[in-house]
Amino acid sequence: MAHPFTPPGTTVVVTGGAGGIGRALAERFLAEGAARVIVADLDPERVERTVAELGERAHALVLDVTDEAAVTAAVAAVEREHAPIDLWCSNAGVAAGRDLGAAADWDLSWRVHVLAHVHVARALLPRMVERGHGHLLVTASAAGLLTNLDAAPYSVTKHGAVALAEWLAIRHAGTGVGVSCLCPQGVNTAMTAGDGPTAATRLGGAYLEPEDVAEATITALRDGRFLVLPHPEVADYERRRAEDRDRWLGGMARAWARVRGVGAE
Ligand SMILES: NC(=O)c1ccc[n+]([C@@H]2O[C@H](COP(=O)([O-])OP(=O)(O)OC[C@H]3O[C@@H](n4cnc5c(N)ncnc54)[C@H](O)[C@@H]3O)[C@@H](O)[C@H]2O)c1
Repeated sequence: MAHPFTPPGTTVVVTGGAGGIGRALAERFLAEGAARVIVADLDPERVERTVAELGERAHALVLDVTDEAAVTAAVAAVEREHAPIDLWCSNAGVAAGRDLGAAADWDLSWRVHVLAHVHVARALLPRMVERGHGHLLVTASAAGLLTNLDAAPYSVTKHGAVALAEWLAIRHAGTGVGVSCLCPQGVNTAMTAGDGPTAATRLGGAYLEPEDVAEATITALRDGRFLVLPHPEVADYERRRAEDRDRWLGGMARAWARVRGVGAE
């Protein structure tokens, strides 16, 4: 469905680029020959430090991806000051709230995990369609294909991210614009630094390093695949979920009981 994307000579923007998966993506795109990578994140100092570490082809962009006017202005500024954007990695994310969460957790998760992708789709994809070329990578999560037992706001809004990426991929078929969706399970980043040994995400298996996620992303983009699964077993889990939803829900309930250290119903 997606078009193959190869980095040499391209202009790439990575949101949430000042750490974790975003930073690893930025580093890898540079290593693969991107002409420039724009590292976009909230905190000016973290952005500047990252860009200084990544070298002269890395550029800083202080951006709150939930601010639609700022995203629109950033797209225009990057294209005016640098070059047409070949790839936008919509990667910023938050871990807001546990269990059912509070209203503020839902609001923030919705704005970062769903609306931020809508903002960039509005601002950038028409430009790409006009050029007949470009790519959007949405970082969702395996939680968006399966679930995250610890946090409903995260799980539900990541499902929203997957649904939006699918919708965009379908609606841009034949335009020259590709859309991909990155769905890792656990990855060792600041987001998961507080995960104890009983964190539900650990049930899914070993955590990867951000560099492993960048490797899987490069491969999937080159192959023109929509879904990027750094943990390949997620495809099997998703198949089992679709084949027999009641069985899958039962299995997840037993997993949750194990996490809490009590017997399953
Ligand atoms: N770490 C994991 O286990 C894991 C698993 C699946 C998916 N993900 C997703 O991967 C993406 C990257 O997460 P990570 O693990 O590297 O975590 P991280 O906390 O290291 O990085 C997230 C980055 O997003 C930035 N950010 C947050 N809100 C922003 C906003 N409004 N505007 C701009 N930047 C903002 C943060 O400042 C941070 O640098 C997220 O979307 C996350 O949900 C992570």
